[in-house]
Amino acid sequence: MAQKPLDEVYGWVFNIPPAEDNPTVSLNYYDEHGATWDSDMKTLAYTAPEVAAQKAASLVSQEQMKNFKLLDLGAGTGLSGVAFRSAGFLGNMSALDGSEGMLKVAMEKGIYSDVTEHILTSSNPLPYPDQSFDMVFNVGAFTIHNIEPDCIEDALRVLKPNSYLVTTVRMHCYMQDYKIRFYDELNRLEAAGLMKFCSREKFLHYRLDEVSDEFEINLADQYGEVLVLQKSGIN
Ligand SMILES: C[S@@+](CC[C@H](N)C(=O)[O-])C[C@H]1O[C@@H](n2cnc3c(N)ncnc32)[C@H](O)[C@@H]1O
Repeated sequence: MAQKPLDEVYGWVFNIPPAEDNPTVSLNYYDEHGATWDSDMKTLAYTAPEVAAQKAASLVSQEQMKNFKLLDLGAGTGLSGVAFRSAGFLGNMSALDGSEGMLKVAMEKGIYSDVTEHILTSSNPLPYPDQSFDMVFNVGAFTIHNIEPDCIEDALRVLKPNSYLVTTVRMHCYMQDYKIRFYDELNRLEAAGLMKFCSREKFLHYRLDEVSDEFEINLADQYGEVLVLQKSGIN
């Protein structure tokens, strides 16, 4: 499929649906874009999957990479799973996402051990038992109108003690309120002894410098952060 011009892709990615707390609204949006997600992300030079995968690989041994049981939370079309496979994670990898249209593309990639369609909210927790995974990763789904910060605790629940949650968050200006709530929640979870906040690093999430001037781009919006959280050893 031919790549759409950068402006067109920028227009739909950043022209997000109206502010609504109902997750179904943004999931419909993903359903509509599943078929073109991979080529659109290529147009934006989306780096978050590779950045998260390299960060995750730096945390574990070669042996653990072969055997670890992973969860790709908000797997989408599987770009994040592909990056983790390429980084050397060869064990079981589960995918969970709330969008049927995105998961359809993910399944075609043949990289996941199992694929689950599920909308994660604080009242609809992950459909896995406690301590199911050696690592959970979330590339881009802890974001406004997607997975709310009050679900981080459930992502920790399905991790084994001392295991890592690796996640990326965008720094776009419309993320300000979400980010305050996100980092407040991390502080709460750390203060409660449920996890340790290990690292937070800035990276170039998309290339927006060639988007045309009509969009009045703030180049600070190009960046994201990759975070490493470690579940505590006592639960
Ligand atoms: C920005 S995309 C990232 C997809 C993929 N990780 C990647 O890097 O290409 C966010 C994904 O999270 C999913 N998502 C958003 N809110 C969700 C929720 N509450 N529960 C489950 N999945 C959700 C969307 O369907 C979408 O596929």
